[in-house]
Amino acid sequence: MSKFTINSFQEYKSKRKISMLTAYDYSMAKIIDEAGIDVILVGDSLGMVVLGYESTLKVTMEDMIHHTKAVSRGVKNALIVSDMPFLSYHISVEEAIRNAGRLVQEGGAHAVKLEGGEDIIPKIKGIQSAQIPVIGHLGLTPQSINKLGGFKVQGKDDVDAKRIIKDALLIEEAGVSAIVLEAIPDKLAELITQKLTIPTIGIGASAACDGQVLVSNDMLGMFSDFTPKFVKKFTNLKPLIDQGVKSFISEINSGDFPAKEHTFKIDNEIIKKLY
Ligand code: KIV
Repeated sequence: MSKFTINSFQEYKSKRKISMLTAYDYSMAKIIDEAGIDVILVGDSLGMVVLGYESTLKVTMEDMIHHTKAVSRGVKNALIVSDMPFLSYHISVEEAIRNAGRLVQEGGAHAVKLEGGEDIIPKIKGIQSAQIPVIGHLGLTPQSINKLGGFKVQGKDDVDAKRIIKDALLIEEAGVSAIVLEAIPDKLAELITQKLTIPTIGIGASAACDGQVLVSNDMLGMFSDFTPKFVKKFTNLKPLIDQGVKSFISEINSGDFPAKEHTFKIDNEIIKKLY
């Protein structure tokens, strides 16, 4: 299987679709990588689906580095993109560069993702000046939920739609390699995808995008607190896990587990000496 590199984004625009899924740990990253995904995103969604917070706002740099390290140990071919968490790139260009550098140097990420448009252009340029590729994220940007008033579809009126288009063109000009478009109307996603020379990766932004991303815990049916409209459960692991756990409990009680094949032998002569 061939490696997906940062150059592959440009190479595949209009040639073939790009697939991206989140992962937060070694085992899942290894499975997803071996299944042939192009890009693995260590998303700050880990705050919600792994750490149980109500939003992504409490995720720290230490959380992101910890999980990026685990993911990078499991991945051979996919490009690893790590999310820069809330406040890790908002304060100054210098802090943004240092924190992006930590995700690469300590975590093993190949690129970082930042939420926002025009406002964060100096940060995007600064990070790239340290030779770190940047992925953009527009539309519903979960780190802004307090300003947006919740997890809502963005770009529904002409003013907001024009702002998203402008932001997309500006961050493309600033050098981002691809842009995640989250929860925007299908026709708007199509228009942005046509206007850009870099790929768009949609999540709730229609098949018109150059690629698609989902949170793996959502699409595998492992996260049941809520399911956004744009999520498709490609499989439903929750009932399978539930069944596995129930069987484990029941076989412990019945004495069926562990069976002989799960146990280790010792010489009877040695055992006699222990009594
Ligand atoms: O944090 C995340 O998982 C993301 C995806 C929803 C794109 O940013």
